Amino acid sequence: MITQLLPPGADSYALASDILHSGGLVAFPTETVYGLGANALDSEAVLSVFTAKGRPSDNPLIVHIHDRSQLEPLCAVPELAYPLMDAFWPGPLTILCEKKPSVPDQVTAGLPTVAVRMPSHPVARDMLRACGLPVAAPSANSSGRPSPTTAAHVLEDMNGKIPLIIDGGMCDVGLESTVLDLCHGDPVILRPGGVTREMISRVLGCDVQIAGSVLRPLREDERALSPGMRYKHYAPMASVTLVEGPEDRVLPLLRRLYSEQKSLGRKSCVLCFTEHVPLLSSCEPHDIGSSLEPSEIAHRLFDTLRGLDAEGMETVFSEVVPPEGIGLAVMNRLGRAAAFRVIQA
Ligand code: TXA
Ligand code: MG
Repeated sequence: MITQLLPPGADSYALASDILHSGGLVAFPTETVYGLGANALDSEAVLSVFTAKGRPSDNPLIVHIHDRSQLEPLCAVPELAYPLMDAFWPGPLTILCEKKPSVPDQVTAGLPTVAVRMPSHPVARDMLRACGLPVAAPSANSSGRPSPTTAAHVLEDMNGKIPLIIDGGMCDVGLESTVLDLCHGDPVILRPGGVTREMISRVLGCDVQIAGSVLRPLREDERALSPGMRYKHYAPMASVTLVEGPEDRVLPLLRRLYSEQKSLGRKSCVLCFTEHVPLLSSCEPHDIGSSLEPSEIAHRLFDTLRGLDAEGMETVFSEVVPPEGIGLAVMNRLGRAAAFRVIQA
């Protein structure tokens, strides 16, 4: 199959609509990451998303809409969701709702809930409006690789597997949406993202829990609330280790760890804050963004992780950010890229 890469515009949306209505797949930009879309009401089309990604069939998909009127046939919306939709839709918040029968079991991996979100990216909105369908879309990467934040990333993973990628440039947020469970008692964030715990708490006027597996691996006896939050994911080929502690201890330790690897002949580097690049110049520093701008770190993270693969890195040591605000989402993705290996300086 030839994969076309087209700019946004009426012709591209018309083609996307034809493809989606006939059961095909279209990759499109959202404000978080690129999505790999299929008609959410077509179980065959949904199955082919799993095939294109090499995704385990027990990991459910998010359904994307452009208008709230699309919700009624899909799901029963929990009461608490309304103020959140008012505050954060369109935007990077995914809400679990009770599924209705029109949603095929392939979308929800057999779960009684369906995850829905209304993206804010103008290209996503225009495409969703043009096709008039609810669109089931996981991130448009091969399963296990870092999510794509540019059309070039999508092409790396999907070339020859899908007919169309709409190129909307680099995604703004850079990390996937916040996944919020309101169906099982108190609100719980299953996956942190651009809409932070603090933002949700402020709107609901109550505390919001964070699923246990967000900053550590699942215990063996623990059930994954969200099937996607399993052990290793977002992973570059290199072995990544996080280094945590006060700056005056972290920097010397990064230098030592790097030179140990270097002397073993391993291709290594450090991921560090912009401010530390000159101080780690002997360790192949890769700038992850300023420690004062965690949203910039989020924006660039997946591109940085993919870059490590392109360079053939074998061992990587990374600084960490405080797990607050968008920093929680950054630490969730970095932690999982590192399979939660952390060294205390
Ligand atoms: O920002 C995003 O959310 C992107 C863009 C394309 O919208 N999409 C995305 O989809 O990240 P995906 O499939 O890569 O991640 C969906 C996550 C997975 O962790 C999945 O397990 C979880 O949402 N999920 C989906 N439906 C669920 C459900 N019914 N119950 C629990 N978790 C669910
Ligand atoms: Mg994904």
